[in-house]
Amino acid sequence: MRDSRAWTRREFLGHAAIASASLALLNGCGPKRSSGRGYRLPGVDVSGSHSLKAHAMDARMLFGFAVNTQKLRDDAAYRSLVEQQCSIIVAENAMKWHALRPAMDQFSFADADALVEFASHRHIRLRGHNLCWHEALPEWFAKQVTPVNARQLLRDHIRTVAGRYSGRIHSWDVVNEAIEVKDGRPDSLRNTPWLQMIGTDYIEMAFRVARDSDPSALLTYNEYGIEQETQEAAMKRAAVLLMLRRLKQRNVPLDAVGIQSHLQAQSVNGYGAGLQRFVQDCREMGLEVFITELDVNDRTLPSDVETRDIGVANRYRSYLDLLLPERNVTAVLTWGVFDAGTWLNNGKDRAREDGSPQRPLLFDDHLRAKPAFVAVRDAFDARRQAGVLRGTPLSQKPLPKL
Ligand code: G3I
Repeated sequence: MRDSRAWTRREFLGHAAIASASLALLNGCGPKRSSGRGYRLPGVDVSGSHSLKAHAMDARMLFGFAVNTQKLRDDAAYRSLVEQQCSIIVAENAMKWHALRPAMDQFSFADADALVEFASHRHIRLRGHNLCWHEALPEWFAKQVTPVNARQLLRDHIRTVAGRYSGRIHSWDVVNEAIEVKDGRPDSLRNTPWLQMIGTDYIEMAFRVARDSDPSALLTYNEYGIEQETQEAAMKRAAVLLMLRRLKQRNVPLDAVGIQSHLQAQSVNGYGAGLQRFVQDCREMGLEVFITELDVNDRTLPSDVETRDIGVANRYRSYLDLLLPERNVTAVLTWGVFDAGTWLNNGKDRAREDGSPQRPLLFDDHLRAKPAFVAVRDAFDARRQAGVLRGTPLSQKPLPKL
């Protein structure tokens, strides 16, 4: 049955036409006008009170992007869009082990420091991603890390990195993607190098050291593959909840869950009650929920760009309408600023059959708002109109004094 909020092309064009008249220039760095490439969204004002951060704030939420620090430094239009749209940002890669640790006895903080300064000076909240993951490990890791030194190495990494930015991070993804049901363990923990070399208590240790290193950051467990109404996702949700409950029972410092939300534009089972229940279970444990890496994979949609963009927009809207009524959902970040930067176009296994690049985000290759921009903004408005929030959620307390 068609979701009553899903737009047809005609409905969408009508909707866009009533949006504010002028397409705002992005702080004087207006997007380059292309000769018809890509679907245009005439007449949508994205600036000021029409921005995503403004509509999110009206719904008592935070909105932002995962950012590329090099583009933030070098591309004025990209930087303007981030400043214009975001109340929170996260480094797509600059705070991972691979970026911070050129050698076992070395740290490289230049990009991360620049991002922290960028965010602080603009009063944009900053998520840290991530302190402990089985991917993005530097080349020396496999050669030099052993069961003898792994515990101290992880402890020192967290102390050094979280300690360096203490008081300046909204939330840390302390542990990322630690559950993998297919690995067959009774606790469903993923068989990562951290588990193999430290043991099952690496997760607890990571959170305790993170709290000790930065008492003000919201400590987050971040996960993917828990979104859909499938048996596999339901099993993974159950395993994540069991792990979270065990951590809370041991009084492990844990404040939030990140639902990565890498979505499919077309999904047989879709997204529904199972995920809503998961968010409510998190609330019952006193946990906030952040939608941390939102994007919509459009590889199975038809080639026509307008059809693709409206299909992607409908997914954004239906997914957020599912979760934003839950008052412990307090932040939404898309995994990238614009289509040209998406991770989904790196890797043949994610390519579209027609060979065209994916268009999974809210802004196109020329930093122009797409239908998905309007869909997300409308979803924030729907939450505000529903009066979901009365108080100020934990993550929106005033920024700590720098
Ligand atoms: O910086 C190096 C560059 O010097 C080198 O020339 C180039 C070629 O090898 O690699 C560059 O590093 C790449 C890095 O992105 C920066 O572009 C890595 O190879 C590449 O593996 C890395 O991919 C990132 C991936 O995480 C692994 O860290 C993606 O950009 C990033 O979007 C993706 O994000 C993850 C989240 O962190 C966790 N959730 C899933 C999400 C998607 O996989």
